[in-house]
Amino acid sequence: MADASQIEAELAVVGAGAAGLYVALCAAAAGASVALVSATTLAQTASYWAQGGLAAAIGPDDNAELHELDTERAGRGLVRPSAAAVLCAEAPERVHDLERLGVNFDTDRAGTLSLSLEGGHSLRRVVHSGGSATGRRVVRQLSALAAQEPLIEVLEHARADTLLLADGRCIGLACGDGRAVRARAVVVCAGGAAALWARTTNPPGSLGSGMALAYHAGAQLADLEFLQFHPTAVIGVAGREGYLVTEAIRGEGARLLDADGERFVDELAPRDEVSAAIHDLLERTGAKAVSLDMREVDPTLFPNVVDTLAEAGIDVTTQLIPVAPAAHFMMGGITTDLHARSRLAGLYAVGESACTGLHGANRLASNSLSECFVFGARAARAALEEPAAARGLTPNCVELVGEVTQATRTALWEHAGLRRTRDGLELLLEDPYPLARLIGACALAREESRGAHLRDDHPRTDTELDATHTIVSPDGAVSFERWE
Ligand code: SIN
Repeated sequence: MADASQIEAELAVVGAGAAGLYVALCAAAAGASVALVSATTLAQTASYWAQGGLAAAIGPDDNAELHELDTERAGRGLVRPSAAAVLCAEAPERVHDLERLGVNFDTDRAGTLSLSLEGGHSLRRVVHSGGSATGRRVVRQLSALAAQEPLIEVLEHARADTLLLADGRCIGLACGDGRAVRARAVVVCAGGAAALWARTTNPPGSLGSGMALAYHAGAQLADLEFLQFHPTAVIGVAGREGYLVTEAIRGEGARLLDADGERFVDELAPRDEVSAAIHDLLERTGAKAVSLDMREVDPTLFPNVVDTLAEAGIDVTTQLIPVAPAAHFMMGGITTDLHARSRLAGLYAVGESACTGLHGANRLASNSLSECFVFGARAARAALEEPAAARGLTPNCVELVGEVTQATRTALWEHAGLRRTRDGLELLLEDPYPLARLIGACALAREESRGAHLRDDHPRTDTELDATHTIVSPDGAVSFERWE
């Protein structure tokens, strides 16, 4: 009799956020069986929390080249042009595919998709659903489809903590509960690592476990020093600490004010610039927060933000919102090519777990959900071309190690926060959590300031490092590589 804990599938997908669900659905649409491993309930994935939307050049005055230009400008000389070209050319197609899958994006009365404006975009380009409930709506719809799809087996409350390797390839995974999946390929869509920082907009599970798992199995990581801080996370409001107030609200005219009620930054500059301006003002004045003023913004456009803050006692139509930067998005991750292949055969990564080089040193707003779908479709196609899992091989098991403690989260916030120094970063090299040590090593190696990585001891951008990515090899060595 077959062992029920041993599952055979064409693909094993780790993570049931936007990227994982979409990879699974694309593979199933191609007739392949999928084991979809989800550690959390769906409401805890970072995608579910996403308020922004999908950046896609679909407006009448827009085109892929303009989107690419904005992506590269925001990325501060580090965006991999080939990755940006793929994203910007293919994002509109993916939006239409999501509509076909039943996602209802917001439209005007004539049925034309409504587009919002976010920081760093030269025009309105972000499609959304339910105002600022895009992540929730998309994940809910894709989850419903995945649950009904006979080719997708969902392993709920299962934590992939082991990769199975044989003949130099990844041939499957095992979960903490004893279930194991053998597959042609494993696609890691386990989200990012921003909850490793003490103040974060992310759900508590965003601890980089997919990156750590891949790294311990022999994959390469890249650009771990580039962690994006979102400028407007709520601070000092009981029960709502770190709640993200979408940038789209600034796109509709909300302003950032200092303690005297004065504006001090272009609210729609790229995120690194706005976050640094807020951080520096708070350091100078000793204040804990700046104010986001959305009193002039139509509250019906952002019902979930308005309701959430009302529950916390803030009436956004009459009151200011106290905000400060918080860790939000890991631009680095598992090094992948433009088809989501890592440098370990049979192992793929998509979304925030991956680093294609698309985001460079500072991600353009709402490129992240688009990335999940563009590279998710590519991953499903490429992974299904991998050779079938060989039978009878005894795999090596590479297990995830290390626990994240509050001390690690505090250390990353203090030493790998908005402004960094050599002395602080060196302290991270002693951290008990392996990924924190790798983040410290990457940030130490990059002796310049660029995008989200600001070194007080190296305040200038070193143009010699343009297009040059930080690589962490499986032996822990950090080097630089130019990506075209
Ligand atoms: C936001 O809506 O401000 C966040 C969306 C994103 O991270 O791009």
